[in-house]
Amino acid sequence: MNELLSLKDKNYVLSGGTGTLGGSIAKYLVENGAKVLLLGRSEDKLKDKQEELNTLVSESTFIFKVDVMDEGELTTLKNKIKEDFGHLDGLVNLAGGNIPGATVKPDQTVRDIAMSDTRKVVDINLFGTVVPTVILSELMVEQGFGSIVNISSMAAKQTISRVLGYSMAKSAVDIFTKWMANELASKHGDKIRVNAVAPGFIIGNQNRRLLTNEDGSFTERGNSIIKNTPMGRFGDASELNGMVHYLLSDASSFVTGSIFDVDGGFTSFSGV
Ligand SMILES: NC(=O)c1ccc[n+]([C@@H]2O[C@H](COP(=O)([O-])OP(=O)(O)OC[C@H]3O[C@@H](n4cnc5c(N)ncnc54)[C@H](O)[C@@H]3O)[C@@H](O)[C@H]2O)c1
Repeated sequence: MNELLSLKDKNYVLSGGTGTLGGSIAKYLVENGAKVLLLGRSEDKLKDKQEELNTLVSESTFIFKVDVMDEGELTTLKNKIKEDFGHLDGLVNLAGGNIPGATVKPDQTVRDIAMSDTRKVVDINLFGTVVPTVILSELMVEQGFGSIVNISSMAAKQTISRVLGYSMAKSAVDIFTKWMANELASKHGDKIRVNAVAPGFIIGNQNRRLLTNEDGSFTERGNSIIKNTPMGRFGDASELNGMVHYLLSDASSFVTGSIFDVDGGFTSFSGV
């Protein structure tokens, strides 16, 4: 592979590494010569994913039971990476998601939102990105290089009905991406970069029930999304790989503080 895009012998931490998007990106990275350090909360899911990826490429995948909001666990992880791996080339913050109580269903009003669930959703989607970034970027500052990729959403820039807490958190992830990019580059040099990818709609565990019926047909919401996506389809998780690869690699050496839509045209379309 071209030197600029080479992932060989690079170490990448992926939070949410056993999820739909995290699992797909992890597979792509190991197939292209990188080592992945997967973070998750379920030991069983981590072990299953490790076995799957190590079968594809031996000794490519390392697992850590870490809650991305736990500063202590992340500090221990940071020290372990330094000791066992020597350097960290990148971090992809994929942990996130929604919970039903934090959404407004079609027959509800905003008064039905559970504030405690809404706070939890803001916590996982915002602080679940902020805490790993702040702690693991210390390693990047020490070694003088590193690329961080956050995962934003279509819900960050414009209103998407029902998902108030999630939208607020992902908007905050966008400004955090820009803020950290500025902070790290201006104080620690041009080799530490922070960007975000805003995926369009990709069917996974989190949104399957919202977008598809049991028989596989699309729900009203699913159809409405397709109608507003010029490409006329949902994305596939593998379609994020190219953008993540670009942002992790030296091919994007002058790119920081940017948010990239990978959405089949959804954001660019007015609906008319
Ligand atoms: N699928 C989509 O269409 C889509 C679109 C835009 C953005 N996203 C975002 O992409 C990211 C990944 O989404 P996905 O579809 O793969 O979801 P997913 O539910 O399959 O994966 C998310 C993972 O995060 C983990 N996680 C949650 N809280 C955690 C915590 N406190 N500590 C450690 N891990 C934790 C979950 O266990 C899960 O493995 C999320 O941030 C999501 O909001 C997804």
